[in-house]
Amino acid sequence: MQVRVLDADPISHPTPLLAVPVFEGTSGAEGLLSRLDAVTERGVSRALGTSDVKGRLRDEVIVYGSGSGPERVALLGAGALEGLDREGVRRLAARAVRAAERLGLASVSLCLEGADTLEASVLGQAAAEGACLAAWRYTELKGPPREGDPPIPVTAVELLGATAIEALRAGATAGEAVAAGENLARTLQSRPGNLATPSHLASEAERVASDTGLRVTIFDEARLAEEGMHAILAVSRGSQEEARLIVLEHRGGREGEPPMVLVGKGLTFDAGGISLKPAGGMEDMKFDMSGGAAVIGAMHAIATLGVPANVVGIVPSSENLPSGSALKPGDVIRTLAGKTVEVTNTDAEGRLILADALAWGARLRPAAMVDCATLTGAVVIGLGNHAAAVLGTDEGLIEELREAGSRSGERCWPLPLWEEYRKQLESETADLVNVGGRPAGTITAACFLSEFVEDIPWAHLDIAGTAYGDGKLPYQRKGGYGFPTRLLVEWVRSRAA
Ligand code: BES
Ligand code: MN
Ligand code: ZN
Repeated sequence: MQVRVLDADPISHPTPLLAVPVFEGTSGAEGLLSRLDAVTERGVSRALGTSDVKGRLRDEVIVYGSGSGPERVALLGAGALEGLDREGVRRLAARAVRAAERLGLASVSLCLEGADTLEASVLGQAAAEGACLAAWRYTELKGPPREGDPPIPVTAVELLGATAIEALRAGATAGEAVAAGENLARTLQSRPGNLATPSHLASEAERVASDTGLRVTIFDEARLAEEGMHAILAVSRGSQEEARLIVLEHRGGREGEPPMVLVGKGLTFDAGGISLKPAGGMEDMKFDMSGGAAVIGAMHAIATLGVPANVVGIVPSSENLPSGSALKPGDVIRTLAGKTVEVTNTDAEGRLILADALAWGARLRPAAMVDCATLTGAVVIGLGNHAAAVLGTDEGLIEELREAGSRSGERCWPLPLWEEYRKQLESETADLVNVGGRPAGTITAACFLSEFVEDIPWAHLDIAGTAYGDGKLPYQRKGGYGFPTRLLVEWVRSRAA
C-alpha cells in the first residue's frame, strides 16, 4: 500500500475516486463542495438536496464526475467538524478505502481540505493509519481469486491537502510505519497454530531484525534451561513444539540509557493443557500470541521510525497442550525469579510464561516495562471489546498508557491492584498459586505478574477482549486487530520526545 500526500486541487486532480467528508450542518454546496458541484454536473448539490447525505457517519453517496478531474466523488458523512478527532480521521480514511474496494478500484484520493481542525502532522498520521489498516487483508493461504471473490485490494491512497503539506507528509510517513507494524502483527495473528509456532515467531523476529536493523536474540530450550526459565519450559512440556524466548533490541537512545521494555505473550495455541478448554471456539486460541505479535509489530515500527530511545521487546513463546508429558494440576515449578509456583490450573499458563519474561526484563533495569497479554476471559466480562484493562505499579505510567491509548484509538482503562487481592494467591506448598479463584480474575492475574517485576515501574495490558474479533470498525477485518501495536508505539514515542 502506497500513501502519497499531494498539494493538488481536488476539482482538477485526475483520480478514479475522490472521497470528500461532509460535515454535519452542511445544508448545501458551499466552498469545496460547491466547486466540486461544477465538475459533477451538479451531482453534489443534488445529493445534498436529498436527505441521503447529512453528515451522519453512515452516509455515503457516489456521484459521477463530468470532466478531467475525479471520475467519481464519494460524499462521506463525517459528523460534526468540531468533534473530529484522530479516531474519526482513521475511520474516515478507512471508509474511503472501503468505498474504493467495493467499486473494484485500486486507488482512492481523500480530500483533507477543511478537516484542518487537527494539526497537520496528526491529521496525516491518522489518515495514513486508517487507510493502510483498511487496505490490509490476509490472503496467503488462499488460492488465486475466483469469480465472485472480493475485488482487488486498494494499493494506493492519495491524501490531498491545501495547507502545511510538509507536516501532513511527515505525519503520513509516520502513520504508514505504525500501520505497517500493526499489519505485521495482524498477519502473525492470522496464521494458524500449525504455521505460527514458537520457532516460526522467532524466525519472523529474525527477519524483522535483519530488515530493520534491530538486534535479535533467540533463546532455545537449552538456553531457557541454562538461564532457569522453568516456568516457560513447564508450560511447553506437553507440546512437541519447542519453546522460545525472543528478544528484539532497538538502540535509538544514548549508550547506557535505561530502555523501555515491551513484553508480549506469545502463546501460539492455548488448548488449556491438562485443564483442557471446552471445544467450542477453541480455534480462536491461535490468537493467544496476540501480545507477542503486537510487540514484534511495535518493534518493527519503532525501528522504522528511528525513535530516539532504547527499546527492548521480549516475547516468551510456547504452546499449551495436554499430553503424557504435560504440566499437571498440583505441580510446583521454580521460576527465573526464584519464586516457586503451585499450578492449580494449567490453563492459567500466560502468567507463567510472562513471569519468566518479566523477570528477565526487570534484570535490564528498564525505565519502565509494559506487558500485553490475552490473559483472562474475565476482562471480556469486565470491559467487553472496547478497551483493554491496564493495571500496574506506577500511577504515572498507567496514566501515560491511558493517554497513549486514547490518542492511538487503542484504549485501556484502569483496574485496581490493591494488596488485598494478593491473599487469593497464597499457596500451602509453594510461594504462590497461579490461580486466585473466580472473583477479580483480571486483577489477581495482574497481581501474580507483579510478583516478578521487582521495583521496576511496570504496567500490564489485558487484551483478551480487544486483540481480535468480528471486525466492526471500518479499518478492521474479522480476525486479528494488531491491538495494541499503535498504543505501544504511541507510548514509546511520547516518552522519547
Ligand atoms: N488465553 C486465555 C485467556 C483468554 C480467554 C483469551 C478468552 C482470549 C479469550 C488464558 O490463558 C486463560 O485460559 N485464562 C483463564 C484463566 C483461569 C484458568 C484462571 C481464563 O481466563 O479462563
Ligand atoms: Mn489458558
Ligand atoms: Zn492463554
